[in-house]
Amino acid sequence: MDIRDAIDADAAVLTEIYNHEVANGTALWNVKPVDEAQRLAFLADRRAAGLPVLVAEIDGEVAGYASYGPFRPQDGFHQTMEHSVYLRPTFQGRGIGPALMEALIVRARDGGVHALVGAIDGVNTGSIRLHERLGFTEVGRLPQTGQKFGRWLDLVLMQLTLDDRPAP
Ligand SMILES: CC(C)(COP(=O)(O)OP(=O)(O)OC[C@H]1O[C@@H](n2cnc3c(N)ncnc32)[C@H](O)[C@@H]1OP(=O)(O)O)[C@@H](O)C(=O)NCCC(=O)NCCS
Repeated sequence: MDIRDAIDADAAVLTEIYNHEVANGTALWNVKPVDEAQRLAFLADRRAAGLPVLVAEIDGEVAGYASYGPFRPQDGFHQTMEHSVYLRPTFQGRGIGPALMEALIVRARDGGVHALVGAIDGVNTGSIRLHERLGFTEVGRLPQTGQKFGRWLDLVLMQLTLDDRPAP
């Protein structure tokens, strides 16, 4: 497995992964598909902000991606990032998500991030277990704060604090 920074040529597969989750899953609470131009803009925005978008490649095929961006826009949150990780369905359950997350955590540490927060659908036990194995702990559960496919969804917040530095 090769884990590398995403390039513009990955926009098509990032679009496919995102839209699959929009149409079929509750890991993403959006219902409108995106197009390739929007994913290119996402890549450009993250690049301009110095934020990583990592892809995992297996035998030349992109299996999935992981990234983080600001958790909340206010100044005081600037060392806290919210991350996401998505794999193509055929690559799930093979340890690629944890490998992507480990690489993302290294980037976060190197980039001076103090805390990483994942916002996870409460029934996404695969993702919750993955995060627990990586050392994340559940720090909040917000019942019925989302909806999709005619169901209320609970949001589970999981956090990994990356260092014990005093606040600057
Ligand atoms: C969640 C996700 C990132 C985990 O990555 P992964 O590489 O599949 O992780 P793992 O191989 O370590 O599997 C994690 C757990 O999920 C289960 N799992 C993952 N994909 C599965 C699938 N398609 N069917 C059944 N179980 C699956 C694994 O069996 C494992 O369970 P365990 O902890 O009891 O062993 C990945 O499955 C994915 O992209 N899912 C869809 C999008 C999503 O949920 N993203 C996370 C948003 S917070």
